[in-house]
Amino acid sequence: MKITAHRGLSSLAPENTLSAMQRAIEFGCEWIEIDVQLSADNIPMIIHDKTVNRCTNGQGKVKDLTWYELRLLDAGLWFGDDFAGEYIPTLEETLELTVNAGVKLNIELKIYSGDEVDLLCEKVAEVIERLAIKADAILFSSFNIEALMTMKNYLPEVRRGQLWQEIPDDFAIVLQQVDAYSVHCDYRFLNEEQAKRIKQFGYRLFCYTPNFPQLVASHWQWGVDMMITDTPQRYKVEELKAIRELALNE
Ligand code: G3P
Ligand code: MG
Repeated sequence: MKITAHRGLSSLAPENTLSAMQRAIEFGCEWIEIDVQLSADNIPMIIHDKTVNRCTNGQGKVKDLTWYELRLLDAGLWFGDDFAGEYIPTLEETLELTVNAGVKLNIELKIYSGDEVDLLCEKVAEVIERLAIKADAILFSSFNIEALMTMKNYLPEVRRGQLWQEIPDDFAIVLQQVDAYSVHCDYRFLNEEQAKRIKQFGYRLFCYTPNFPQLVASHWQWGVDMMITDTPQRYKVEELKAIRELALNE
């Protein structure tokens, strides 16, 4: 499936938890997207928001809490009783699960105001080097150009994807600077002309976060390579329908 499970399979399990990763693996997603930021003791942790307030039973900024303080929080109960006991995983735990399962990991470097870009990149690179992760098993993405440039210095062989809500007119200059592999943009702001230009330049084009396949039926025709979605299951249904139609027409 040309699908990236956004924050794991986040419509069926609490986002960015190992349960969400496991479900994405079982669903046959080609990629999983996760968000990484540092704990107070500089451990790369998988969580989207600047604070733990929305997705755990705790309060406070991720960067003010140590790994141990974060580990004590429940990251599943907000989603449903079945997920009680789920915790915020580290990057290391997430990589071990996904890479061993043969699913590729899109690691979004989350930079909030006041974050130290270089420190996050250094700590992420350390984990990847320690686990000897092969370059083609992962990709870095970020809205923050500095983060991608820094990653290019630390781990030049790992692909980089530039995140934009809306692709800017000067996209070619930025993509060249970052030496990008891909562009990841909001499907709602993409048009056919932009998509074709990105593809003409030779970049992969990913769209986030279309949760209904019908919304992006034409985007595939424009050359989009991958949808980053909370609902891979809906795309699987569409895929099965297409296979059935083909079989019936033969
Ligand atoms: O990688 C696409 C998407 O994750 C970017 O936005 O806010 O969901 O991390 P966000
Ligand atoms: Mg993200």
